[in-house]
Amino acid sequence: MSSASSHPAAGPDRRTVVAAVGAAGLAAALTACGAGDDASDTEAATTGAAPDGGGTALARTADIPEGGGRIFKDQGVVVTQPMAGTYKAFSAECPHQGCAVGSVARGLIVCPCHGSEFSVADGSVKKGPATKGLAPARITVSGDGIRLA
Ligand code: FES
Repeated sequence: MSSASSHPAAGPDRRTVVAAVGAAGLAAALTACGAGDDASDTEAATTGAAPDGGGTALARTADIPEGGGRIFKDQGVVVTQPMAGTYKAFSAECPHQGCAVGSVARGLIVCPCHGSEFSVADGSVKKGPATKGLAPARITVSGDGIRLA
């Protein structure tokens, strides 16, 4: 009798950028590879824009270089801007052996462990030994704010 299926409704005017199934998998990956408990207090002084929905504030669009990206270690995601105004997000966990990817350069996300490289555009493998691309992650872009969905 108490089957309250309260599913958080997605705001109608939020733009979901990377439609993907990755949220649950990403959470699992974060748990699996968690590096201890860090009480991350998320009170970054942002521009004062009120949050318009769920999700964790991650960055501002200006933080993500065009043609490149930025790695958010605590959240375990990489956010990229393959072309102006287009934002993508991927799990920062390398599908080869699970290292965290370490840098973004020349349009590639690079894993420091064995040198695998992934495209900033779609996370696909550009250089092995990884054989699978980075898992997609979900973000929403609202105004100049980027949130983890
Ligand atoms: Fe990333 Fe091996 S774990 S290349």
